[in-house]
Amino acid sequence: MVTSILEAKFRDAFSKVGIAPDIPILLSEATREEFGDYQVNGAMPASKALKINSRELAQVIVDKVDKGNIIASLSLAGPGFINIKLLDSFITSRLGEMSKSNHYGVLQTEYKSQTVVIDYSSPNLAKEMHVGHLRSTVIGDALNNILSYVGDKVIAQNHVGDWGTQFGMLIAYMVEHANGELEYDIKDLEEFYRKAKIKFDEDEKFRSKSRNYVVILQNWQKYGEEGEQVYRYWKQFTTISMRHCQFIYDKLDIRLSASNIAPESMYNSKLDNIIQLLESRKLIKESDGAKCVFFEPDELNDVEGVPFIVQKGDGGYLYSTTDLAAIDYRTHVLAGSRIIYVVDSRQSLHFKQLFNVARKAGLVDDNVVLEHVQFGTMTNEDGKPFKTRMGGTVKLIDLISESYNRAFELLKIKKVNEDSTDLEDLTHKISIAAIKYADLSKNRTSDYVFSFDKMLAFDGNTAPYLLYAYTRIQSLLKKAKSDFGYDIASYVSIRINITITKELERKLLLMLLRFADVIMVTAKSCYPHYLCQYLYNLVVVFMQFYEFCNILKETNKEVLISRLLIIDKVGEILKTGLELLGIQVVAKM
Ligand code: ARG
Repeated sequence: MVTSILEAKFRDAFSKVGIAPDIPILLSEATREEFGDYQVNGAMPASKALKINSRELAQVIVDKVDKGNIIASLSLAGPGFINIKLLDSFITSRLGEMSKSNHYGVLQTEYKSQTVVIDYSSPNLAKEMHVGHLRSTVIGDALNNILSYVGDKVIAQNHVGDWGTQFGMLIAYMVEHANGELEYDIKDLEEFYRKAKIKFDEDEKFRSKSRNYVVILQNWQKYGEEGEQVYRYWKQFTTISMRHCQFIYDKLDIRLSASNIAPESMYNSKLDNIIQLLESRKLIKESDGAKCVFFEPDELNDVEGVPFIVQKGDGGYLYSTTDLAAIDYRTHVLAGSRIIYVVDSRQSLHFKQLFNVARKAGLVDDNVVLEHVQFGTMTNEDGKPFKTRMGGTVKLIDLISESYNRAFELLKIKKVNEDSTDLEDLTHKISIAAIKYADLSKNRTSDYVFSFDKMLAFDGNTAPYLLYAYTRIQSLLKKAKSDFGYDIASYVSIRINITITKELERKLLLMLLRFADVIMVTAKSCYPHYLCQYLYNLVVVFMQFYEFCNILKETNKEVLISRLLIIDKVGEILKTGLELLGIQVVAKM
């Protein structure tokens, strides 16, 4: 990566000047183009440590930098910013190397790959998937792709909620109404759930029956005939539900499958041990009959007083108990050294407490990193939670269909000529891409305003805009071959021979060189919007290049071929980046 090369050069210069290795170099992209390509800001903190004038120190550093065949010039600005301009020859030769290397240089970084467990999607079963499940599913899947790409061994865990009161409720309802029949689908289940919930809220007797079924379910083998019946209902509900989830994942082109399902029920037999462990570590206090872990006033930074309840007074276990057992499994059985939870910000207290208790109980070693990758709520344009016009929860399948229908109308207006099967496929891809990209391109920690119009717009930072740019590149390359006889495939296989003749070419190449850096930053931070922003910027510069630099009209053959090679690379990077986000490119649009 360019950044590591520059960092090494500057570290060398810093140490020649006597700056300690723990003082950061602070290398970044130049804030303004006219300043250069990159900048180093480390002279300022270094000057404080050495107690000398920062601008003078910056000059001394500049004098010591070995520019080699990499840096064209270095200049100073302000109190000691060092601006770096790279040599054109370095840029073009790097691009050649980047193209030849695995994953565009990503795998050549110093990054140490590890086993990463990502918990994502993780819906509660027994109901259809709804918008509340979208962000975790889409963000988690993108992270799965990106971390796999940087060389990690990623284990996706779909921690589906297949346990607890909602199932007791459903079973109680079925015992009353089903007459042993077992052929249902997700729509029936949704209906049963709705009716059962009403009854549960109204009828005390039904409530206690439901709770009793939860108890039976947890130990069904001990309850003879009745236990078996309860278990059969439960098995059927979860099977129907998971089939439905898989249907949605396939529609959304999400890589989760049956092998990733690690349901809450899987930890059932481990829960007693978890309580025993917490007891033996003297972490548990009783409060109103419930077993709780309490925290010191400042222990979790901002929240005090709220305990982590691990066992209810009636002996029942909770979401928290299951999560402790799951953490144990993820570190000790799956051997994860980075464990990521892609879950709504509203659960932030739960995860703070969970991580704290898991560490205190010795369920995770110190070197294991635990991260709550949180995200905000999806809202309507009025800033209120995303609901149907009637105020109901929006089902994912409805959201997907609406996106499809709208994309179809737009393509019709644009008069895209395709035969009907291609058009269906194209519409499907664009509509899914739009849903995913709209989510991923926002900083995940903020709430995000969901708008079909915005996400399907053909300009701005949207999927259709990026996909369109990709198709433009492809048709240009095709035309170069069919009308002009320039076959890009044959140039790619020989030595890359790119020349810089215009500032825009240089700019585009520099952006291409940044790909590996952006991927690494995204992988480490788990903020997919960094990658989106990069791809968008790349396309914006490409569009300028396309507009201002002749490509097919260029008379100098060498320049023309070089430009074809450049845009071919842009297309490749764009495709790779989009695929990492979980978005498939389209050939025509
Ligand atoms: N099923 C939970 C919910 O819908 C999310 C589970 C997240 N993962 C976890 N290990 N707690 O709220």
